Formats: sequence, C-alpha cells, structure tokens
Amino acid sequence: MSKHYAVFGSPITHSQSPRIHAAFAKQTGIGMDYVAIAANHDDFRAKLDASGVVGANITLPLKEDAFALCAGNVSARALRAGAVNTVLRDGAQWRGDNTDGLGLVRDLTERHGLDLRGRRTLLLGAGGAARGVAPALLDAGIHSLYVINRNSARADALVDAMGEPGRTHARAWDTLPALGEFDLLINATSASRGGQLPSLAMALVAPRSVAVDLSYGEAAVPFLAWARAAGCAQTVDGLGMLVEQAAESFLLWHGVRPDTAAVFAELSGRADALLTAD
Ligand code: ATR
Repeated sequence: MSKHYAVFGSPITHSQSPRIHAAFAKQTGIGMDYVAIAANHDDFRAKLDASGVVGANITLPLKEDAFALCAGNVSARALRAGAVNTVLRDGAQWRGDNTDGLGLVRDLTERHGLDLRGRRTLLLGAGGAARGVAPALLDAGIHSLYVINRNSARADALVDAMGEPGRTHARAWDTLPALGEFDLLINATSASRGGQLPSLAMALVAPRSVAVDLSYGEAAVPFLAWARAAGCAQTVDGLGMLVEQAAESFLLWHGVRPDTAAVFAELSGRADALLTAD
C-alpha cells in the first residue's frame, strides 16, 4: 500500500509540491501519494496528526510552528534555522528538518552556475523562509549577511541565531539607502504575494548584482522587475529552489535522491505553474 505524504500551508491551492513529488515518485518507482492540505497556525497540529501522513512539507506561514511542534527533535540545520520545512513521523513524535537552504544554494550554484563565495548579501525578511536559507548561505561562503525586517526583533533574533556576529547584521528598513551595493539580494518577505513591494533603494544594486526571490511565478515579478530596473544583470526566482528542496525532502523520506533537471524543465515550461509561491 502506498504511504501518504502532504504539504501543509496557507494559501496552498496552487502549490506545485504535489506535482513535483508525483514526478519524483514516477521517476524512482516509489509508491506514494502526496496532497496539499490547507492549514493555519490554529489548526496545523490537529490537521497534521489527523492526516495519516508519514512525512510532510511545511510551507508558509507554518515553518516556525513546525519547528515548535517537533519539540527539539530536529536536525542541526533546522535547529540553526529555527524553522522546519520537512517532517517525518518518528514513533508518536515528528522529526523536523530544513531543506530550504540547501535547495537554494544548490539551485544558485549548480543550476545557475553562481559562485556565492565572498558575496555581500542582503536578506529581506526574517520569517520562516529567511531563517531557512540564512545558515546555508553563510556556510556557502558569502562575505556577510545584512538582514532587514519590518519587525526588527525578528531580524535581531535571526542574526543572534546565526552565531556569527562579525558576518551577520540586523538593519532597519530606513537604513537601506545607506547600506551600499550588494552582490546578492534575496527577497524572503511574503509582501509580493499580496501584490506589494517593500520600499527599496536603487543604490543597493550594481550591474554585477544577482537578485533572487524565494517566491516564483507572479509573486516573484515585483521584486525581480524592480531589480532589473535598478540595473541588476541576473535575476532568479524560487522555482529551482522549490524543486531542489523537494528533492532533498524526498531523499529524507525515501532514501533516494531524484534527478531534478527534468522536473524543473517541465515546471518552468508550464504557464499554469507560474501562479503562486509554495
Ligand atoms: P515565510 O515562511 O514566508 O517567511 P512568515 O514567517 O509569515 O512567512 O514571514 C513573512 C515575512 O515577510 C516576514 O519577514 C514579514 O515581516 P514581519 O516579520 O515584519 O511581519 C515579511 N513581510 C510580509 N509582508 C511584508 C510587507 N508588506 N513589507 C515588508 N515585509 C513584509
């Protein structure tokens, strides 16, 4: 009998994760089903327990809830991030991991051929998505990480959690124009999913800069369009990261790492794949 898996989050209707995991299962010959389940802060735990799944992906806004739910039963990378995007049933408990950071770094370095080492990096946002990618960016050798968030306590907490005070800095939005140019700019806010773009300064961007939005499709358009208008030569949306983090979750659940190239090519060629973020 095939085992059950799911992705939990809100909004979740247009999630590409069921399609991605179905493609991985077909490719590897592993029997499983994978569905999208809408859940919020107040009903996530009950829905996860009632779902009958043995593993799940967790997406916004539940990555920090999932970290709390795993109650210390988490991998080292999830512990450092303080956020969980992958859970695996472990007896009566849930074990948590975070594959977002590895997914992003793999997409940027292997698919897009970028060398992250030495890059002065701006991270917009300090929620679950930002927390997931920050440790992996530092481990990939970026020069420094400037974290900007509306809620400054969250930016401070992210920086403290990284434990590298010389390389990580929390800054307020109104200091942005004075921060100088960045080699790598990453939008990890959920602002553009509501059609908004936080106010940004053209002076942040140089022709060598690379801009990345962790969202994909329409949600990635405002930030990446701003970056191109500001003079950024290369922009990357979050579709590749989505496929790579999914492959890493698949590996954790099934012990097999699927090939991501064909799945990425299929998704990026589909107009209806470009609807929302995961
Ligand atoms: P996710 O898992 O996508 O990170 P989240 O934990 O709800 O979801 O975090 C959303 C992030 O987007 C936060 O950094 C949030 O800033 P606050 O912590 O100050 O709320 C940021 N965000 C959402 N809407 C925003 C907006 N209009 N402008 C700037 N930042 C915004």
